[in-house]
Amino acid sequence: MVSYKELGLVNTREMFAKAIKGGYAIPAFNFNNMEQLQAIIKAAAETKSPVILQVSKGARNYANQTLLRYMAQGAVEYAKELGWEKPQICLHLDHGDSFELCKSCVDFGFSSVMIDASSLPYEENIALTKKVVDYAHQYDVTVEAELGVLAGVEDEVSSAVSHYTKPEEVVDFATRTGCDSLAISIGTSHGAYKFTPEQCTRDPKTGKLVPPPLAFDVLDAIMEQLPGFPIVLHGSSSVPQEYVDMINAMGGKLPDAVGIPEEQLRKASKSAVCKINIDSDSRLAFTAAVRKVLTEKPGEFDPRKYCGVARDFMEELYKHKIINVLGSDGKA
Ligand code: 13P
Repeated sequence: MVSYKELGLVNTREMFAKAIKGGYAIPAFNFNNMEQLQAIIKAAAETKSPVILQVSKGARNYANQTLLRYMAQGAVEYAKELGWEKPQICLHLDHGDSFELCKSCVDFGFSSVMIDASSLPYEENIALTKKVVDYAHQYDVTVEAELGVLAGVEDEVSSAVSHYTKPEEVVDFATRTGCDSLAISIGTSHGAYKFTPEQCTRDPKTGKLVPPPLAFDVLDAIMEQLPGFPIVLHGSSSVPQEYVDMINAMGGKLPDAVGIPEEQLRKASKSAVCKINIDSDSRLAFTAAVRKVLTEKPGEFDPRKYCGVARDFMEELYKHKIINVLGSDGKA
């Protein structure tokens, strides 16, 4: 048993309480490799933003859960080296799908876990979430749960259909499970193709897809039921068109990739939404950089030359999200 406290990590409780009061959201960035982690920590340290490092199922399969945990431990020391005296870094399990997995993360030094039982019938979701909460809280590890179903594909989590969270269920769910935060479905979606062209309109000038707005009425109704309760938005990449265009111009093929407009995420950040999950945008930044370097310098074969540029692209992206979208700069 390793406590996250020994590793210098923090859970989400205080982060979320401050974020709700302060009208901003904490960035939850997924990481799979060293460059991504370096970029996240540099961006958070330079902007003095609290940050949540997320480990998804795909990341665990790709990079190994043990290695990722040690990398997060190293990230705390790296943050200090960068001059961030008291780093506010949370290590979070993204989309945990069983009690055993959540337990293993709690036992191994994660400071927060998500149990995603949203695809199960309501009562089963409650029972499994409560089991994880009862275990995790013994070690002061915070637990995120989910109600409602997001569309989209994220690593091994996918759903063809979505349904919004039902506001009339949230009080019962939060009370009976004891969860610390609730991921809800209000129209966000995982991946770089969040909406089909049929769900969007087209900007007549650019020909780009304009996505349907998020269901802020559902968010408002949830906040009315659970005043001051931490709400989480998954699937919140905005799929920056500059990266999509760069990728497509340099041999890529991402037709009609579209995300959540940043103004809507900015608006959500000012409410009880206090954790916003972003993964796809950094994949796009990474891919755009690698394509750019390899197109401009076909003779390049040193991975540091293109992964280094990818790291710079991702750092810029993370800083932009922190400062201009989530408003979490200066809060750690
Ligand atoms: P995106 O695919 O929109 O980046 O969402 C990531 C996410 O929700 C991770 O849980």
